[in-house]
Amino acid sequence: MKKILVINGSGRKEGNAAGLASQAIESMKKAGTEAKLFNLGEMNIHPCVACNGCKTGTGGCVQKDELSSLIDDMLDCDGILLTSPIYFGRATAQVYIWVNRLYSLMSSAGSRCEKKESRKLGVILTFNSGPADVYAKEADYLAMGGVKMVAGITAHNILLAGGLSDKDAYKSHTEYLDKAKVLGEWLVQ
Ligand SMILES: Cc1cc2nc3c(=O)[nH]c(=O)nc-3n(C[C@H](O)[C@H](O)[C@H](O)COP(=O)(O)O)c2cc1C
Repeated sequence: MKKILVINGSGRKEGNAAGLASQAIESMKKAGTEAKLFNLGEMNIHPCVACNGCKTGTGGCVQKDELSSLIDDMLDCDGILLTSPIYFGRATAQVYIWVNRLYSLMSSAGSRCEKKESRKLGVILTFNSGPADVYAKEADYLAMGGVKMVAGITAHNILLAGGLSDKDAYKSHTEYLDKAKVLGEWLVQ
């Protein structure tokens, strides 16, 4: 069975990012795929402290918290869906804690997370009021920056969902719900 990691960086467990993630998860489950949800906002996670402990010994991060199992899951997953609201023009602090901790996957020989031909990355960013072109660059960075290489990603797709302020605003945007569903289908193809 395929396994997709759904990483929700929102502080709101039932907000717009989570709601669109649910649509994608529904598609994944329909296709018989395991969708493993991580709500970073609820997890006990800590930022990289640059101790370089991951570069000695057997590798891996010496910090043991709730990111440890997520990062382990990345080694054999078939794809990742990352969802986040925009906070002050960027993905949330929780997302960047995860991104920075991916340093523990890197060694001089490359990433411990080997490139997998079918491993895809979906990124959904929710926000209220533009500038959408700036947020598109943030999405591109998350999809094509270090994460792509470190997580062994071969293809990515992005959904930008603007005009979402209240936590359940996504419910009245069928265009985003439809696109999230299609993104979920694409991730498991
Ligand atoms: C701390 C904070 C900062 C925000 N900064 C922005 C911003 O820079 N641009 C924007 O369009 N919306 C901004 N928003 C609005 C959220 O991005 C938007 O409401 C999003 O859909 C929330 O997603 P959620 O329901 O998953 O939390 C901000 C919200 C918060 C709480």
